[in-house]
Amino acid sequence: MTSARKIIIDTDPGVDDAMAIFYALDSPELEVVGLTTIFGNARTDTTTYNALALLELAGRPDIPVARGADRPLTADAPFDTPADFVHGDDGQGNAGIPAPTGRAVDEDAAHFIVRTVMASPGEITLVPVGPLTNIALAMQLEPRLTENVREIVLMGGNAFTHGNATPAAEANIHNDPEAADIVFGATCPITMAGLDVTEKIQMTLADLARIGELGTVRADHLARILPFYLAFHETTDGLDGIHVHDSTAISYLIAPDAFTWVEQPVRVDTGQSFGRGRTVASHGHSGWEEPWAERTPVRILTGADSRWLVELELSRLAR
Ligand code: RIB
Ligand code: CA
Repeated sequence: MTSARKIIIDTDPGVDDAMAIFYALDSPELEVVGLTTIFGNARTDTTTYNALALLELAGRPDIPVARGADRPLTADAPFDTPADFVHGDDGQGNAGIPAPTGRAVDEDAAHFIVRTVMASPGEITLVPVGPLTNIALAMQLEPRLTENVREIVLMGGNAFTHGNATPAAEANIHNDPEAADIVFGATCPITMAGLDVTEKIQMTLADLARIGELGTVRADHLARILPFYLAFHETTDGLDGIHVHDSTAISYLIAPDAFTWVEQPVRVDTGQSFGRGRTVASHGHSGWEEPWAERTPVRILTGADSRWLVELELSRLAR
């Protein structure tokens, strides 16, 4: 058997982040070498608390947590518009989580990412499932980072469909478009698991009931936090179930053959109008048009074997 792929999950936990973290921990194909935290679903203090608490609850306090940025790249004040209406005031569905006893490492997220990647050239895959601020900061800190990272597999963006934070933009990209445009300009392999694919993968009410019956510590926590997230999907999207956005990045790492994609360079709208945060892919009919010229094509996931992937995730969460 090939050795497990080493990943750093850059995360804003977050209900679906919690599920993705457990899914990764439960998957032998992956070795989680660190969590780095970012604002988004909650402020960075809360997401760092949650990352530590989730790892302790999962029995993996050995995995380091590095605290990340508290504001977007170009902001002069801390981020103050968390998605509490999706994930609860505590980022964990208002269900609470036992307080962590451990602390984040002394290094910040960007330095942690740079040090870890540069210590193992070509081995580390970055898996950002929140705003891309920490990744952009790491790239600015160490320009050779992208030559030394194995791949970036991110959850974010919407190349061919509507947004969810605004009609134009997906939440992770909308929360820091400048950072996202830097990351999409990198030359390393990038796979984008955006709304184009994540909204095609749905966990149904029956699937959620199955999580409630698994009886593991991790599944019990998910069963406590999922009702708030489900209520948001029911009210806002009229969905009898949930989209497992962040888990889709993990699924791709484990089972890439279950996905379809196109490869096109991506720019992010950093303007201050209604298109802000939209990820715009160039179809290249006239060559890569000027704003996309010199950009390495991004693998944009467009479809998936949805039911098979949900069953895969449920089987992993049962471990
Ligand atoms: O748009 C979905 C993304 O926004 C997910 O990463 C979710 O956790 C939130 O951060
Ligand atoms: Ca997230």
